[in-house]
Amino acid sequence: MSPSQADPNRELFINLYATKLKELRSTPYAQRDIRELERTAERCLEAVEKALAGDRGPLERYIEQTALVRSREGCRSWQVLQSFDAFRDVAKLLPHGLGEFVPMDDVLHWAMVRFSQLYEELQTERGLVRMMESLTLALDSKERYTSSHSQSVQKIAEKIARVLGVDIGLAGLLHDIGKIHVPDSILTKRAALTPEEWAIMRQHPYHSFRILSPMAPAAASISLRHHERPDGRGYPLGEREVPLEASVISAADTLHSICSSRSYRGYQRLDFALEQIRTNQGKQFLPEVVLAVEKAYGDMAGLLAAFAPPAQSPA
Ligand SMILES: [Fe+2]
Ligand SMILES: [Fe+2]
Repeated sequence: MSPSQADPNRELFINLYATKLKELRSTPYAQRDIRELERTAERCLEAVEKALAGDRGPLERYIEQTALVRSREGCRSWQVLQSFDAFRDVAKLLPHGLGEFVPMDDVLHWAMVRFSQLYEELQTERGLVRMMESLTLALDSKERYTSSHSQSVQKIAEKIARVLGVDIGLAGLLHDIGKIHVPDSILTKRAALTPEEWAIMRQHPYHSFRILSPMAPAAASISLRHHERPDGRGYPLGEREVPLEASVISAADTLHSICSSRSYRGYQRLDFALEQIRTNQGKQFLPEVVLAVEKAYGDMAGLLAAFAPPAQSPA
């Protein structure tokens, strides 16, 4: 039997399940409004019904979404697993409203195992992200003139990448991590760097690659190439073949550098930043990335303006 929206058994199930969720005292469900819990109950019920009819896709998506949301809230997996137990308990009360109990029990067991696997993966990923964030915060605090550079480049790069439909992962956040190897005297120098100092500075993409390779190979590869240019004048490899993702980080890096007034650039306007990107099409940046920056520019303008340093008060 496939219960319709108006099916009284179905309505009863949703009400009972929402009430059960509300009663799970040591879980985030207890804090939720009963109407919200009813919507959750309905979504879960629909997903289970489709799984019982042979399509586990909606249930997989429901589990993924639940895992993401609960993981962000800092929930423990056992707290969420209690919600699946509650579903089974309510279904036992109304076996005729949901079809055969045994196949449904199989579906729920599968859902619980799938949720636990996903949750474990997410927790590992979150741990990794937290570790990476602390590393980049340590780096940004070294470069006092570019504080928050890594986080800002990530935000800008995400907007450009969205237009292009490419995945940059955490490469924006991590691209300069190799600067941890560059002495503070060079990183914070306000005057122009000497050729010897530049030689050291130009090694930082290699160091980023070495640090990231074991943990985040995709971000490592992008970071290695974030100063490469299609005209072959980039570093450290001098390759003309620049991956799209690396060119996205390069453009985001330039936009942030100009808009946040790095020590060696001074404050310049947003339109100058865009002009620099356009002027360097095919030289420093891939043409498709320049196009994506132009498309994303309206969406980025507020973000870029916020990087401008406060106006200097007269001495
Ligand atoms: Fe860099
Ligand atoms: Fe950078």
